[in-house]
Amino acid sequence: MSAPSSRTASSPIYRGPLPHVTTVERIPVTVYAEPGDASRAVAREIVDLVRQRAEAGKKTVLGLATGSTPVGVYEELIRLHREEGVSFKSVVTFNLDEYWPMQPDELQSYRRFMREHLFDHVDILEEAIHIPDGTLGRTDLAKACAAYEEQIREAGGIDLQVLGIGRTGHIGFNEPGSPLDSRTRLITLDGVTRADAASDFFGEWNVPRQAITMGVGTILDAKRVVLLAFGEHKAPIVRKAVEEPPCSHVSASALQQHPDARFVLDRAAAARLSRFETPWLLGPLDSMGLEWTAGLTKRAVIWLSQQRQKPILKLTDADYNEHGLQELLSCRGRAYDINIEVFRAMQATISGWPGGKAAASQPGRQAEPFPKRVVVFSPHPDDDVISMGGTLIRLCEQGHDVHVAYQTSGNIAVWDESADRHVDFVEEFCRAFGVGTKTSGIADRIRQFLKSKQAGTIDIAELQAVKGLIRRTEARAGARYSGVKAENIHFLDLPFYETGRVRKKPVGPEDVAITVKLLEQVRPHQVYAAGDLSDPHGTHRVCLGAILAALDAVRTHDWAADCRLWLYRGAWQEWEPHEIEMAVPLSPEEVLRKRMAIFKHESQKDRALFPGPNDPREFWQRAEDRNRETARLYDRLGLPEYEAIEGFVRHEF
Ligand code: F6R
Repeated sequence: MSAPSSRTASSPIYRGPLPHVTTVERIPVTVYAEPGDASRAVAREIVDLVRQRAEAGKKTVLGLATGSTPVGVYEELIRLHREEGVSFKSVVTFNLDEYWPMQPDELQSYRRFMREHLFDHVDILEEAIHIPDGTLGRTDLAKACAAYEEQIREAGGIDLQVLGIGRTGHIGFNEPGSPLDSRTRLITLDGVTRADAASDFFGEWNVPRQAITMGVGTILDAKRVVLLAFGEHKAPIVRKAVEEPPCSHVSASALQQHPDARFVLDRAAAARLSRFETPWLLGPLDSMGLEWTAGLTKRAVIWLSQQRQKPILKLTDADYNEHGLQELLSCRGRAYDINIEVFRAMQATISGWPGGKAAASQPGRQAEPFPKRVVVFSPHPDDDVISMGGTLIRLCEQGHDVHVAYQTSGNIAVWDESADRHVDFVEEFCRAFGVGTKTSGIADRIRQFLKSKQAGTIDIAELQAVKGLIRRTEARAGARYSGVKAENIHFLDLPFYETGRVRKKPVGPEDVAITVKLLEQVRPHQVYAAGDLSDPHGTHRVCLGAILAALDAVRTHDWAADCRLWLYRGAWQEWEPHEIEMAVPLSPEEVLRKRMAIFKHESQKDRALFPGPNDPREFWQRAEDRNRETARLYDRLGLPEYEAIEGFVRHEF
């Protein structure tokens, strides 16, 4: 499903006295429900252009990006080549950028990325491929950058430029401050960009400080530009680039000045655009094909309460009238009625009995049967306690039959030193008890490998296994501490994850079959899963995909008719207050117990510091801050004041 593309600079702007509402979309934006839909549409656009030009005997010059965003486009191009015979022999490509310094065969090289994700799978001519050269010496760079520009000119200019966008607003690697007329050059990467690349390089300190990039001016010279952005982590910067006046602090905003540039987004990346966040400020709802549903009313009232810094029940007719909600007020009559409706809806989300309570049932809370069979899926071995540790403890204490299923081994996220220490422990253990003194040379092989390991080298199988075991034992300790019975702890080790690399395979039939098997074994009344959609190609999203496919496969079973799926959020984000459908309050003591459960994941203690120095908080701190903030939000809306709250959204399947 896609909303129509629109250039809304001239569409009605809210005329009331709200000073902060000054912008609407300044560039055409197309929004798709899912990244896959968007990728297929852009791939089709590329192929149409290539075919059209080939028929006219012309070459097509494509400007290409790397990173997670365009991967789906490249997959679709490969499919179209294989299944529809699309040829790339008439295509010339110029990549936006490359890390510097960088050898072409290194895991993180963009040259290697392009070969693996596109070039090795289509019939493009080797000599038609251009990628900035990361092997050059510093003194040769300026000349090589000028030559790159010249090559683009000689090829006739770029016909279609594909872009992603970084959280700094960069296109290519044009970090904040890049002039509009900048050309291909060496640039120093922003701290945020290096933090975002950290997992590809097994640590931020391994990320190169510099890169060669086409300039903003080079990109603006392309005849057509399509910028793709997926995932809610892109939503704030997308809003800036689309709705705020162009400035050199957000390079992507320069595209507003291009005659044929377009943003192509999924719903998550579009979520902060005014038309989704506060559509009532842009004009009458029916002019946008919207109506005042219960959901939109709830959203608007929470927004108003936050704007006015007043609890919901204290909002007045004047508050509605003077803050862009005249239409809602006039169709409903009185602030009082709207307030009560939304207040009650929010109140009904609060439940200290996440599995339901037979005696005092709440609407929609599925009180019967009691106790329930519950499966908590955890993408990595610690997401269960980080994201819903309080709820997990409550479910166990309230007598439900709780199972936890760890979907992946999580071995990538264990430091080498930690593995080394555990190997040391095993050797000491064997010596101390005179057992298994022969470790079959495994310990030696691991130590030998670690000695010569370069940043980014794939671990040998034994080391991967040790790292997986460390996480497995920590997960067991965390789950047991939360009250889960030993026999209810499951390790699925889904195959999509086991590449030994940060880059994973897509979810496959085997992953789904393993998940189906567990569901059939437990026949749950409730399923909890990570609904963390931030990274379109991230592990959490793939894990959710496996669960949804598995639930689809079992939907005809009797037990599945009563099964409910609740989504929690990961360590990095929380649901918006208007989205939360179940709010599980935590007492101060429960917050501490949740913290203790997270502490069982010793190998992860300093992992949350990994993204960079901007946010030096550990996982337990992030989780507590997040849960406390949700509780504060409820309090400010005039609902009961709790120490912390874990939020969930129900997902229909
Ligand atoms: C990559 C590039 C960058 C990325 C951007 C988004 O060649 O030029 O601008 O497009 O950093 O990266 P992802 O897609 O990984 O979020």
